[in-house]
Amino acid sequence: MVSARHIEWDSPDGDEARKLRIRVFVDEQKVPIEEEIDDIDPIAFHVVAIDTELGVVGTGRLFDQPEEPTIGRIGRMAVDARARGRNVGAALMKALITESIRRSHVKVMLDSQTHAIGFYSKFGFQVCGEEHMDCNIPHKMMEATRFQLRQWLELGSER
Ligand SMILES: CC(C)(COP(=O)(O)OP(=O)(O)OC[C@H]1O[C@@H](n2cnc3c(N)ncnc32)[C@H](O)[C@@H]1OP(=O)(O)O)[C@@H](O)C(=O)NCCC(=O)NCCS
Repeated sequence: MVSARHIEWDSPDGDEARKLRIRVFVDEQKVPIEEEIDDIDPIAFHVVAIDTELGVVGTGRLFDQPEEPTIGRIGRMAVDARARGRNVGAALMKALITESIRRSHVKVMLDSQTHAIGFYSKFGFQVCGEEHMDCNIPHKMMEATRFQLRQWLELGSER
């Protein structure tokens, strides 16, 4: 399996993660750039996956929900189109879930693009909200408890 590791946002690896997010969300999915890079980035825990030939091929972030810090929030999951379907996304999720357990979050929430619900379900997330539009893309809120995430880490992540 590809491995993912923590990076500092304000670093050369952070620059590569930013470039990847712009390629995936701004160029590919037409999200306005002013919505893409936000004021959560400097305080979030960022991870990247690195391919020996392609460089940074995946990134994602985790942060404590500002109004309820016992709840974690995962977002900005982006895998380079050339590297999809090779477990890069799963490696990023493993690194983010491991950090969430370390932070003792009681649960983790994320706002999934509707097409990606099947992906997040693999890690124990369940839909918990109605479909809504964000940047013209349909989304649904999903959540997983600490117990469900621990279960995936212990039983599912090595499959
Ligand atoms: C969604 C995304 C992050 C998935 O990354 P990925 O590296 O292709 O996914 P992986 O190869 O790690 O897939 C892990 C598992 O999820 C499944 N999966 C991946 N994408 C899926 C999808 N869209 N729907 C259902 N299942 C999916 C895989 O089949 C695999 O299942 P398996 O373990 O049974 O073999 C990637 O497609 C992406 O970056 N998309 C564009 C940006 C985006 O939409 N991000 C989500 C924002 S909410």
